[in-house]
Amino acid sequence: PIPVIAIDGPTASGKGTVAHRVADKLGFHYLDSGALYRLTALSALRRGTSLTDEHALAKLAEHLPCSFSGGAIILAHENVTDAIRAEEVGNTASRIAALPAVRQALYGLQLGFRKTPGLVADGRDMGTVIFPHAPLKVFLTASVAARAERRYKQLIEKGISANMEDLLMDLQARDDRDTHRAIAPLVPAEGAHVLDTSQITADQAVEQVLKWYAA
Ligand code: CDP
Repeated sequence: PIPVIAIDGPTASGKGTVAHRVADKLGFHYLDSGALYRLTALSALRRGTSLTDEHALAKLAEHLPCSFSGGAIILAHENVTDAIRAEEVGNTASRIAALPAVRQALYGLQLGFRKTPGLVADGRDMGTVIFPHAPLKVFLTASVAARAERRYKQLIEKGISANMEDLLMDLQARDDRDTHRAIAPLVPAEGAHVLDTSQITADQAVEQVLKWYAA
């Protein structure tokens, strides 16, 4: 079977960076599942779809005209790589991600990323729902303070002004929604290795994941 490394964790735990580098090192494909929720959110915001219309949102998710090419994320011929990273899109993504029909609509699309020679899948439910038989499952965490600081630095680097207190509140609200939702809540999968990245660099986290994979 084609190997999958499932990397799950809360927002700003470093999972995107770590998953990407692990995929590069192994020459594996990379699935940024959060981007699919963000693309659905962006489409909904642009079309003015009601965020409580589960059926309409699921339809949007099921027919997302998106593609991933060389690090760029394309939606209906438009490069939306930066647009989907906006805070409003992230918050909307986390709201619609609580809707079962939306998650169901994105299920098959995610399975399709599993191709030879292998896949590193990054998200919230990669090890619990999408790839429960993955030979390696990792749950990345970090303290709320460490994650807020990372997010702060990312925003400042992009030239976006940020306020630490607002960031902390946003992080906690998102954590709360992601861990307490009824469907696919954010929890470590059975058999997952838990790695706290508060005190280690992304490279050290990558090394640890590669060690687990080789073991
Ligand atoms: O960048 P960040 O970690 O904040 O978020 P993301 O990975 O891009 O995902 C955005 C939102 O989509 C999350 O807050 C989750 O609510 C949702 N999501 C999910 O429910 N399941 C996934 N596999 C990935 C993301």
